[in-house]
Amino acid sequence: MKKLETANIAVMVSGGGTNLAAILDAEKKGILKSGRVCLVISNKKDAFALERARRAGVKTAVVEKGEGTQEDFEGQIVSLIEREHIDLIVLAGFMAILSEKFTSKYPRRIINVHPSLIPSFCGKGFYGLRVHRAALDYGVKVTGATVHFVNEVPDGGEIIMQKAVRILDSDTPETLQKRVMRLAEWKILPASVEKVCADIVSGRNRLHNES
Ligand code: GAR
Repeated sequence: MKKLETANIAVMVSGGGTNLAAILDAEKKGILKSGRVCLVISNKKDAFALERARRAGVKTAVVEKGEGTQEDFEGQIVSLIEREHIDLIVLAGFMAILSEKFTSKYPRRIINVHPSLIPSFCGKGFYGLRVHRAALDYGVKVTGATVHFVNEVPDGGEIIMQKAVRILDSDTPETLQKRVMRLAEWKILPASVEKVCADIVSGRNRLHNES
């Protein structure tokens, strides 16, 4: 087995890609040092996240489900992941469903950022601005973000990091989304990516030294 210096990361996106930008920035600053973003996969061909990846010189791929089956969609993603020898898949605003067949293939190798304090406002139907609207409608005074491993339960995998954000009386879903991103997501996502990559690298090298 080869000694591993850094883990190969694929980031999966659907939209603006500010979380991708936070990861790329952390890599540039050396905060993310145990992993390298080598592939960005989008399920939307016009996602601005693709442009951010290109500007950073990162390889991109578009896999749209369109009229195709879930199996075809995931099969194309698996091919890309295998071709690039990806060690960690990061879902950063990836808005498509991944089946149990896919998630069970990569146990503790897929992480996701969710814009609430799980187990509040999460699971099926809770994504993007809807999460913040639900938090405001409920009247909670504190929300935040969570990074967790992905398993077959939507937003149900083991929690890696969380950060709380206070809700202001004047908040709208839009202002709250921006603040949760700035104060929580853009901090805990790169930090979690580094933590998981460091674990992958040290686990792999322990095996290497034993063999
Ligand atoms: C982020 O707020 C992320 O937490 C959320 O979508 C936004 C993507 O923004 N993800 C989910 O709601 C997943 N359930 P970005 O494209 O600028 O990173």
